[in-house]
Amino acid sequence: MNQVYTFSFPTTIIFGVGAVSTLAEQMRTRGMKRPLVVTDRALVTLPVFAEIQKAMPSDFPVFSGVDPNPREKNVHDGLAAYRESKCDSLVAAGGGSAIDAAKAIRLAVTHTRPLVDYDDVKNGGDLITANLPPLLAVPTTAGTGSDVGRSTVITLDATQRKTVLFSPYLIPSASISDPALTVDMPAKITAGTGMDAFTHNFEAYLAVGYHPMCDAIAVEGLRLAWSSIERAVTHPQNLTARTNMMMSAIMGATAFQKGLGAVHSLSHPLSTIGRMHHGTSNAVLLPAVTEFNTPAIPEHLKVLEQIMGTTNVPNALRELNQRVGIDPRLRDYGITEEMIEPMLVKAMEDGCRLSNPRPCGEAEMRAIYRQVL
Ligand SMILES: [Fe+2]
Repeated sequence: MNQVYTFSFPTTIIFGVGAVSTLAEQMRTRGMKRPLVVTDRALVTLPVFAEIQKAMPSDFPVFSGVDPNPREKNVHDGLAAYRESKCDSLVAAGGGSAIDAAKAIRLAVTHTRPLVDYDDVKNGGDLITANLPPLLAVPTTAGTGSDVGRSTVITLDATQRKTVLFSPYLIPSASISDPALTVDMPAKITAGTGMDAFTHNFEAYLAVGYHPMCDAIAVEGLRLAWSSIERAVTHPQNLTARTNMMMSAIMGATAFQKGLGAVHSLSHPLSTIGRMHHGTSNAVLLPAVTEFNTPAIPEHLKVLEQIMGTTNVPNALRELNQRVGIDPRLRDYGITEEMIEPMLVKAMEDGCRLSNPRPCGEAEMRAIYRQVL
């Protein structure tokens, strides 16, 4: 052990049923007088958004032009709204898309380079400083964990792929995580976002690298998701299941500072090119990637087998997908043979695969796409 590491767990998390009622107080302590409320087109019409608005001291300008997989245009439009309304801070309300967009808008308020300059692949995070307006994140799904994460994923014009911007300064000022805000989530979204949380914990645990703290978080996050995702799907009002899933999402996103794996590299183009829901594509890929990784993870596999009560983890994952209503093949979601090669180009450019426990090159990635198609 002759290497020096940086570990960092700085997020303030206000967690639990009723946490949203602290929003006004959290704004006040941070001097937030006029936040831009960032959300997506669907959420803005739902009762849960009204509930979040009600928790704020008055009506603030709302920017709801965020796409399901946020694009650079959403960031420019949000920045224009921020300036036009003379805002001094941001509140992100929604799932990963709204929170990621808000993180990028917040960055653009004080960082004026083209967004592509901050691309993590080019170490663009070195250009990001602490000079950012306050941002409170209020998640309404339990999956992405973007509210505690130090990255934002935006499809940029210059790269035409989901591009990761990464810096510890991108972490929201606080996450206000209230599981009661997730009880009206439809079953399909609960399953898809929940499997994103599951996959974050799963891949972070298996990722190469030395990080016992993240390993411990990922194992417990995985246990929570394994025990509760099905109940959250079938009994949406069950607050214990919703609480466990929201905590699992937070733990997954905290743990993946260690790294993710091939599932996420294969998954990102399925959203940009194939228009699939991110967590759903993770879920479809996870059994096949785990099969591929099996020879490289004998010790980890014992822990996974114990958590999942199985001797065949890939099969247990397939059965879990079935129980939560996720179809097993990519073609079930409109993915075609012709999409594989263009997706492969993007998957190979994606950095997540570099921490996969078994080296995963072009031939292996192509084989996994074909297997799961
Ligand atoms: Fe993810």
